[in-house]
Parts: sequence; structure tokens; C-alpha cells
Amino acid sequence: MAQKPKKFFAANWKANPKTPATAKIIARAFSRIPKGEVAVFPPNVFLLPLVDVFSERKIKIGIQNVWQGTEGSFTGEVTAPMAKSIGASFVLVGHSERRAYNHETNADVAEKVSHVLAAGLTPILCVGESKQVRARGFSSAASAVLGMLRESLANVRGKKTKEIIVAYEPVWAIGAKKSATLVDAVLMTEVLKKELVHLGFSRFRILYGGAIDEKNISEFWQSPQLDGVLVGRASVRPQSIRKMLDVISR
Ligand code: PGA
Repeated sequence: MAQKPKKFFAANWKANPKTPATAKIIARAFSRIPKGEVAVFPPNVFLLPLVDVFSERKIKIGIQNVWQGTEGSFTGEVTAPMAKSIGASFVLVGHSERRAYNHETNADVAEKVSHVLAAGLTPILCVGESKQVRARGFSSAASAVLGMLRESLANVRGKKTKEIIVAYEPVWAIGAKKSATLVDAVLMTEVLKKELVHLGFSRFRILYGGAIDEKNISEFWQSPQLDGVLVGRASVRPQSIRKMLDVISR
């Protein structure tokens, strides 16, 4: 890679907050940061009214999921070209909550990744091992994560020069009190980077996600091996947002 890519801060609001008024309050807590790139992933119903708030602050927007098609009779779904048309730049793909509650498989994820790239958007592919797998040690965790990565990228042919972002999100750290350690995150990042090069990708960033907040963001953000963070719960708390953005603006 010629130039070191910008550090990336992704805010995944999940199914929060309850009302558009609160969504606006949360959105306004995001300030423009001089270095690095910030992207917010609100629930789709709140997105359109927030586009101006984010663009004034040079904050990018993304959506939390897309349908594996371009348009048609798929009730309840939103597609990658639709996301693109309202100004989104990124799509979360294969988040562990979608894999768990919506039974998304690696094959579904692979289709979504290729639709996202075809629409000119950047996928943030989430991979991570379960607690049971991690209990068997690092190499079990690494082989589970690599399996997810390979299968989820199986449909990306001829698009390997486009940027992809991979978020290492160990399932046992998402929604937990404690994050993985920085060492855990860095070790897995190295494994993922090696495999992405092996698979022929030339532009990628690797994030860590799982229980990041204002208290621990600094060490993950400053690590030269990591390209950024994916934040869930703390990204809908205005005070936490301000503190985290303060840290990453330094
Ligand atoms: P969390 O979620 O920060 O609330 O642990 C992270 C994620 O799901 O991306």
C-alpha cells in the first residue's frame, strides 16, 4: 500500500435511539475531526433527516445492512444502490448480531459484499469468533475468523482493487463490559492482513470492535497496527461521543 490510510472511527447505532428528536441530539454530538475519518450508521428511518447534520460536519454516513439484490419485491429491505443514492459511503456487512438474530450465513454475507462493491460503496465486513471457540485458544480463534473472511469474500472477483474494511469483532466482547485486550486485537489484525494480501486485496483497513468507549479508545486508536475502531453502545451517548472524538482528534 502506497500511502497509509486514514484512521477510521465507525459508530454503529444499532436499533437506537427511539425517536428522531433523540437521533438529532446524538448526531449533533459528532464534531468534525481534523485527522481520520468518522462514519455514523444510524437506523435507516432516521438517516435522511440527518444527512445535512453529518455533511456539515464532514462526517460520512453508512447503513447497517443491505439486501443482497439491487431492487425488487423484497418487502422490508433496503439495497446498496438505494444507500448510495442518499449519500451513504459505507455498509456494515455480516455483523454478529445479524448472523445470530437473522441467521445470516457467510454465503449471504458474500453476496452482500459483492452488491455493496458493485454499488460503489465500501463494505465493513465484520468477523469474529465465539466465546467457545476462543476458549480453545488463539489458533482456533484465528482459523474460525479466517474461515469467515475467506467465505465472506468468495464472490469478490475483479473488484480486489477497491477498498474493503474488515472489523475484527470477537463475539464475546460485543456488548460486554470488557473489550478484548489490545494484544488480542493486534494479533488477529496481523493474521487478517496477511490473508487479505494473500487473497489479492491491495486496499484494506482493519478495525477492532467490541466494548470500546471513552475509557479504552485511546490505546486502540493509537496502535500503529490497527486502522481504527467500530463502536456500538458508546456511540449513542452524547457525552461518550464527545470524549471519544476528543481523544481521536489529538
Ligand atoms: P459494543 O458493540 O461497542 O456495544 O460492544 C460493538 C459492535 O457491535 O459493533
